[in-house]
Amino acid sequence: MNTAKVLWVTGGGSGMGRATAERAAASGWSVAVGGRRTAQLEEVAAAIESAGGTALVVRLDVTDASGVAAARDAVLDRFGRLDALVLSAGLNMRRRAWADQSLAEFEAVVATNLTGVASVIDAALPSLRASRGRIVCISSIAGWQHAPAAGVAYSASKTAVGSLCRSLNSEEADRGVQACHLCPGDVATDFLDQRPVVPDADARTRMLAPDDIARAAMFVLDSPRTCASTNS
Ligand SMILES: NC(=O)c1ccc[n+]([C@@H]2O[C@H](COP(=O)([O-])OP(=O)(O)OC[C@H]3O[C@@H](n4cnc5c(N)ncnc54)[C@H](OP(=O)(O)O)[C@@H]3O)[C@@H](O)[C@H]2O)c1
Repeated sequence: MNTAKVLWVTGGGSGMGRATAERAAASGWSVAVGGRRTAQLEEVAAAIESAGGTALVVRLDVTDASGVAAARDAVLDRFGRLDALVLSAGLNMRRRAWADQSLAEFEAVVATNLTGVASVIDAALPSLRASRGRIVCISSIAGWQHAPAAGVAYSASKTAVGSLCRSLNSEEADRGVQACHLCPGDVATDFLDQRPVVPDADARTRMLAPDDIARAAMFVLDSPRTCASTNS
């Protein structure tokens, strides 16, 4: 039986998800690294293990509910517990304004950024209730205030993630589950390649780095509980 706390990261093969997986593992968490590209996931797991940490690759597409359930089962089979989620899987489209978006692309963005988040939370919630666990949703500044460049579907999906977090905190706090709607601005990752105008290397030097967000996520996950709940 694993005694270390267990974190499941979606979008863990790159960017902020990878940085959070590596930072969590370095501070003693066992980490399940999830995403679609096996090679990226294996690279992250190898980096974690060569630094002395513990990692499990769980290949999944967050838009596939049965795959999400299978990934959850793999995490529990390996570690026997689940203490936290960092939900970093995300998608945007180049064509993102009312003037050029398609409904199919709109639906793909919502399926990843909103339904995919709900799907992983839904699969993990029984284990998180048992562990009094925490959820960090890597949302966006576009989920906090209107950010025109982010696009119609992306802004709608990330704004709705804030609603998911608020409903979790109002409905699940008494069972010990806490959720954080983390809303970064620009972060220098591959995600920027999805923009209609891709920022150059110079512009990226003025942005946050993935590890800045990893530190914020770990602040949330490692903070002591200060609020009372009926189960505390
Ligand atoms: N970069 C920014 O400026 C910025 C700012 C605010 C918020 N965000 C948000 O931050 C999060 C992380 O993005 P990032 O900037 O770190 O970029 P990133 O490196 O491109 O990370 C996105 C991750 O999502 C995974 N992913 C996409 N679709 C998926 C699916 N259907 N199932 C499973 N995994 C999926 C990708 O892996 P696979 O392709 O291997 O599946 C990838 O690892 C995203 O939710 C994004 O919306 C980004």
